[in-house]
Amino acid sequence: MAKNKKGEDKDMGRVAIYPGSFDPITYGHIDIIERGLEIFDKVILAIAENEEKRPLFSVEDRLRMVKSFFKDNPNVIVDSFKGLLVDYVGKTNAKVILRGLRATSDFEYEFHMASMNRSLNTHLDTLFMMTSKDYFFVSSRTIKEVARLGGAVEGLVPDLVVRRLKEKFKLPVPKKRQIGWDD
Ligand code: PNS
Repeated sequence: MAKNKKGEDKDMGRVAIYPGSFDPITYGHIDIIERGLEIFDKVILAIAENEEKRPLFSVEDRLRMVKSFFKDNPNVIVDSFKGLLVDYVGKTNAKVILRGLRATSDFEYEFHMASMNRSLNTHLDTLFMMTSKDYFFVSSRTIKEVARLGGAVEGLVPDLVVRRLKEKFKLPVPKKRQIGWDD
Protein backbone atom coordinates (compact mmCIF):
# COMPACT_ATOMS: atom_id res chain seq x y z
CA MET A 1 0.00 0.00 0.00
CA ALA A 2 1.33 3.49 -0.88
CA LYS A 3 2.69 5.52 2.05
CA ASN A 4 3.14 9.25 2.55
CA LYS A 5 6.29 10.93 4.03
CA LYS A 6 5.17 10.09 7.56
CA GLY A 7 4.77 6.42 6.60
CA GLU A 8 0.97 6.60 6.80
CA ASP A 9 -1.27 4.77 4.36
CA LYS A 10 -2.34 7.19 1.65
CA ASP A 11 -5.29 5.25 0.35
CA MET A 12 -7.84 6.06 3.07
CA GLY A 13 -7.58 9.80 2.38
CA ARG A 14 -8.77 12.22 5.01
CA VAL A 15 -10.60 10.41 7.77
CA ALA A 16 -12.69 11.85 10.61
CA ILE A 17 -14.18 10.10 13.61
CA TYR A 18 -17.75 11.01 14.46
CA PRO A 19 -18.26 9.65 17.99
CA GLY A 20 -21.45 9.61 20.01
CA SER A 21 -24.04 7.58 21.84
CA PHE A 22 -26.45 7.52 18.87
CA ASP A 23 -29.24 6.30 21.16
CA PRO A 24 -30.85 6.46 18.62
CA ILE A 25 -29.37 8.04 15.50
CA THR A 26 -31.33 11.10 14.28
CA TYR A 27 -31.42 13.09 11.06
CA GLY A 28 -29.41 15.72 12.97
CA HIS A 29 -26.52 13.22 13.19
CA ILE A 30 -27.02 12.15 9.58
CA ASP A 31 -26.87 15.77 8.44
CA ILE A 32 -23.48 16.20 10.16
CA ILE A 33 -22.13 13.01 8.58
CA GLU A 34 -23.30 13.97 5.10
CA ARG A 35 -21.77 17.44 5.41
CA GLY A 36 -18.64 15.93 6.98
CA LEU A 37 -18.23 13.84 3.83
CA GLU A 38 -17.92 17.08 1.84
CA ILE A 39 -14.68 17.69 3.77
CA PHE A 40 -13.44 14.17 4.56
CA ASP A 41 -13.08 11.14 2.34
CA LYS A 42 -14.31 8.80 5.05
CA VAL A 43 -16.18 9.24 8.30
CA ILE A 44 -15.98 6.60 11.00
CA LEU A 45 -19.19 6.70 13.00
CA ALA A 46 -18.10 5.36 16.38
CA ILE A 47 -20.78 4.34 18.87
CA ALA A 48 -19.66 4.66 22.49
CA GLU A 49 -20.46 1.64 24.64
CA ASN A 50 -21.25 3.38 27.88
CA GLU A 51 -23.69 1.47 30.05
CA GLU A 52 -23.51 4.20 32.72
CA LYS A 53 -25.65 6.36 30.46
CA ARG A 54 -28.35 3.63 30.64
CA PRO A 55 -29.06 3.65 26.90
CA LEU A 56 -32.51 2.75 25.58
CA PHE A 57 -31.02 0.65 22.78
CA SER A 58 -28.25 -1.91 23.19
CA VAL A 59 -25.05 -1.21 21.30
CA GLU A 60 -25.95 -4.08 18.93
CA ASP A 61 -29.32 -2.46 18.18
CA ARG A 62 -27.69 0.92 17.61
CA LEU A 63 -25.08 -0.62 15.32
CA ARG A 64 -27.81 -2.42 13.37
CA MET A 65 -29.87 0.76 12.85
CA VAL A 66 -26.86 2.86 11.77
CA LYS A 67 -25.43 0.14 9.49
CA SER A 68 -28.80 -0.33 7.86
CA PHE A 69 -29.09 3.41 7.13
CA PHE A 70 -25.59 3.70 5.61
CA LYS A 71 -25.50 0.29 3.91
CA ASP A 72 -25.10 1.87 0.46
CA ASN A 73 -22.49 4.42 1.50
CA PRO A 74 -18.98 2.89 1.57
CA ASN A 75 -17.53 6.16 2.91
CA VAL A 76 -19.27 5.75 6.25
CA ILE A 77 -17.59 3.13 8.42
CA VAL A 78 -19.68 2.08 11.40
CA ASP A 79 -18.01 0.81 14.54
CA SER A 80 -18.31 0.83 18.33
CA PHE A 81 -15.77 1.42 21.06
CA LYS A 82 -15.30 1.03 24.81
CA GLY A 83 -13.12 3.21 27.01
CA LEU A 84 -11.44 6.46 26.06
CA LEU A 85 -12.22 8.00 22.70
CA VAL A 86 -8.58 9.08 22.24
CA ASP A 87 -7.44 5.46 22.61
CA TYR A 88 -9.92 4.36 20.00
CA VAL A 89 -8.92 7.17 17.63
CA GLY A 90 -5.28 6.10 18.08
CA LYS A 91 -6.14 2.70 16.59
CA THR A 92 -7.50 4.31 13.42
CA ASN A 93 -5.94 6.65 10.87
CA ALA A 94 -8.26 9.52 11.74
CA LYS A 95 -6.76 12.84 12.81
CA VAL A 96 -9.93 14.73 13.51
CA ILE A 97 -12.95 14.27 15.76
CA LEU A 98 -16.13 15.59 14.18
CA ARG A 99 -18.96 16.89 16.38
CA GLY A 100 -22.17 18.79 15.76
CA LEU A 101 -23.15 21.91 17.69
CA ARG A 102 -26.83 22.79 17.99
CA ALA A 103 -26.88 25.75 20.29
CA THR A 104 -24.77 27.72 22.72
CA SER A 105 -25.98 25.30 25.41
CA ASP A 106 -23.97 22.53 23.71
CA PHE A 107 -20.85 24.65 23.70
CA GLU A 108 -19.65 24.25 27.28
CA TYR A 109 -19.91 20.46 27.28
CA GLU A 110 -18.28 20.21 23.86
CA PHE A 111 -15.54 22.68 24.79
CA HIS A 112 -14.64 20.64 27.88
CA MET A 113 -14.66 17.39 25.96
CA ALA A 114 -12.56 18.74 23.08
CA SER A 115 -10.08 20.32 25.51
CA MET A 116 -9.74 17.10 27.52
CA ASN A 117 -9.26 15.03 24.37
CA ARG A 118 -6.64 17.48 23.12
CA SER A 119 -4.83 17.34 26.45
CA LEU A 120 -4.82 13.50 26.26
CA ASN A 121 -3.57 13.57 22.66
CA THR A 122 -2.03 16.83 21.45
CA HIS A 123 -2.20 15.71 17.82
CA LEU A 124 -5.94 15.40 17.89
CA ASP A 125 -8.28 18.20 16.88
CA THR A 126 -12.05 18.48 17.14
CA LEU A 127 -13.96 20.06 14.28
CA PHE A 128 -17.42 21.44 15.03
CA MET A 129 -20.18 21.86 12.51
CA MET A 130 -23.32 23.83 13.21
CA THR A 131 -26.41 21.66 12.91
CA SER A 132 -28.70 22.61 10.02
CA LYS A 133 -31.65 24.80 10.97
CA ASP A 134 -34.08 21.95 10.29
CA TYR A 135 -32.57 19.85 13.07
CA PHE A 136 -31.27 22.26 15.71
CA PHE A 137 -34.07 21.20 18.10
CA VAL A 138 -33.52 17.47 17.54
CA SER A 139 -31.63 15.37 20.09
CA SER A 140 -31.74 11.66 20.86
CA ARG A 141 -32.99 12.54 24.35
CA THR A 142 -36.00 14.56 23.16
CA ILE A 143 -36.74 12.02 20.41
CA LYS A 144 -37.00 9.29 23.06
CA GLU A 145 -39.20 11.41 25.30
CA VAL A 146 -41.58 12.42 22.51
CA ALA A 147 -41.77 8.83 21.18
CA ARG A 148 -42.36 7.43 24.69
CA LEU A 149 -45.28 9.81 25.16
CA GLY A 150 -46.79 8.87 21.80
CA GLY A 151 -45.73 11.96 19.81
CA ALA A 152 -44.73 11.88 16.16
CA VAL A 153 -41.01 11.67 15.41
CA GLU A 154 -41.39 10.86 11.71
CA GLY A 155 -39.06 13.00 9.59
CA LEU A 156 -36.69 13.54 12.51
CA VAL A 157 -35.26 10.01 12.59
CA PRO A 158 -35.05 7.35 9.85
CA ASP A 159 -38.16 5.15 9.37
CA LEU A 160 -36.40 2.12 10.82
CA VAL A 161 -35.72 4.09 14.01
CA VAL A 162 -39.37 5.21 14.18
CA ARG A 163 -40.41 1.54 14.03
CA ARG A 164 -37.87 0.46 16.64
CA LEU A 165 -39.00 3.25 19.00
CA LYS A 166 -42.64 2.20 18.61
CA GLU A 167 -41.73 -1.44 19.34
CA LYS A 168 -39.65 -0.40 22.34
CA PHE A 169 -42.39 1.68 23.95
CA LYS A 170 -45.28 -0.70 23.00
CA LEU A 171 -47.64 2.23 22.68
CA PRO A 172 -51.32 1.87 21.87
CA VAL A 173 -52.56 3.94 18.94
CA PRO A 174 -54.08 7.07 20.57
CA LYS A 175 -57.82 7.54 20.07
CA LYS A 176 -59.39 10.99 19.65
CA ARG A 177 -62.02 11.78 22.25
CA GLN A 178 -64.23 14.69 23.11
CA ILE A 179 -63.52 16.32 26.43
CA GLY A 180 -66.56 17.83 28.09
CA TRP A 181 -67.87 18.61 31.60
CA ASP A 182 -68.76 14.96 32.22
CA ASP A 183 -65.22 13.58 31.63
O1 PNS B 1 -23.62 11.57 21.85
P1 PNS B 1 -22.92 11.92 23.13
O2 PNS B 1 -23.47 11.09 24.26
O3 PNS B 1 -22.93 13.40 23.41
O4 PNS B 1 -21.38 11.49 22.91
C1 PNS B 1 -20.46 11.64 23.94
C2 PNS B 1 -19.20 10.81 23.65
C3 PNS B 1 -19.56 9.35 23.45
C4 PNS B 1 -18.51 11.33 22.43
C5 PNS B 1 -18.26 10.98 24.87
O5 PNS B 1 -18.95 10.66 26.05
C6 PNS B 1 -17.03 10.10 24.78
O6 PNS B 1 -16.11 10.39 24.03
N1 PNS B 1 -17.01 8.98 25.54
C7 PNS B 1 -15.91 8.05 25.57
C8 PNS B 1 -15.16 8.15 26.89
C9 PNS B 1 -14.16 9.30 26.85
O7 PNS B 1 -13.25 9.33 26.07
N2 PNS B 1 -14.34 10.26 27.79
C10 PNS B 1 -13.50 11.43 27.88
C11 PNS B 1 -13.92 12.55 26.95
S1 PNS B 1 -13.95 14.03 27.87
